[in-house]
Amino acid sequence: MEAESDNPPIPLTAPQATPDARGRPLTDLRISVMDRCNFRCPYCMPRETFGDHYRFLAAAERLSFEEITRLARLFATQGVRKIRLTGGEPLLRSGLADLVGELSAIDGVADLALTTNGVLLAQHAAELAAHGLRRVTVSLDTLDHETFRRLSGGFDGLERVLDGIRAALEAGLQPVKLNSVIQRGVNDGQALDLVRHFRGSGIVVRFIEYMDVGNRNDWNPALVVPSRELRDAIAGEFPLKPVAGAYRGEVAERYAYEDGVGEIGFISSVSQPFCGDCTRARLSSDGVFYTCLFATRGTDLRTPLRAGASDEELLGLLRSTWRRREDRYSELRRLPIGEAKPRKIEMYYIGG
Ligand SMILES: C[S@@+](CC[C@H](N)C(=O)[O-])C[C@H]1O[C@@H](n2cnc3c(N)ncnc32)[C@H](O)[C@@H]1O
Ligand code: SF4
Repeated sequence: MEAESDNPPIPLTAPQATPDARGRPLTDLRISVMDRCNFRCPYCMPRETFGDHYRFLAAAERLSFEEITRLARLFATQGVRKIRLTGGEPLLRSGLADLVGELSAIDGVADLALTTNGVLLAQHAAELAAHGLRRVTVSLDTLDHETFRRLSGGFDGLERVLDGIRAALEAGLQPVKLNSVIQRGVNDGQALDLVRHFRGSGIVVRFIEYMDVGNRNDWNPALVVPSRELRDAIAGEFPLKPVAGAYRGEVAERYAYEDGVGEIGFISSVSQPFCGDCTRARLSSDGVFYTCLFATRGTDLRTPLRAGASDEELLGLLRSTWRRREDRYSELRRLPIGEAKPRKIEMYYIGG
């Protein structure tokens, strides 16, 4: 994650902020602006399920920019200081820069970021930055063309992603971070190539443990590479030292290269769950408010929104949903062996 100087501490709670049932404030909102994607990453939207006949949301079912902005403004009054736009692939949503402009003008929102697979980033980076986007995270799991094809579900595009990263740097969307999901026997042998390539570039690579999000990625725990194992392998070539977290709820464990050329991070939701400090809410593309990435159900905000609910009524729903929040799925993941698994919400829909 970024150095502290790049990431001024965000006040933890607004005066009105409501803690959840475990005392966690709501400071971070991820908004899925688009459920569709131009990739079919097997760990997220496997092609067998998300084929030509899969029914995605119709345009009218997605929240409009006006609806998203109104809800974001209400979330901000509850303590949200960081907003991240995600999906699906957020750059498939046309006119996204206009939404960025609206969200960046909301009082209290100190940080506005985007997570993208990067394929369309080169053509949008400058416009997004001009409208107030602060930072971008690009997902890139490999620098090998064949593995890229496999991990995107059969698409080319590695060069376009690298162009997108360059365009983001040029547009000042800094620090640019990379998210790399590492799976054993798939791309674990290429993690060090990513480190060697981006070390010293100002780009922060964050390695993510392969997670059991949704129900369709056929998760196999044997494919998870624990962050500790990966960190030791990287430190064998490039000595590392830990960096203190900058704020509560920071999900990545940060390490700096001892020779001072930058940082890398590890997001270890499987081997070291961070539920105790999780301050994130998620808003799906059709306006459902989820309190956990692994949620089984959420609170529908679109119906009351479209039925003419007042701000007070919507705020009541936000507050009561957050106040009831007890989620700690990653901490419980290993406990209920043999029990029927609850149906989770898919990541492309809830927003990664
Ligand atoms: C769902 S994607 C949405 C944004 C955009 N399409 C992208 O790929 O960056 C957000 C992030 O979730 C990650 N992700 C998806 N499925 C995952 C899984 N099963 N385990 C770990 N990370 C996953 C992706 O690698 C990506 O970095
Ligand atoms: S990880 Fe991102 S790029 Fe890959 S299928 Fe999911 S939403 Fe699309």
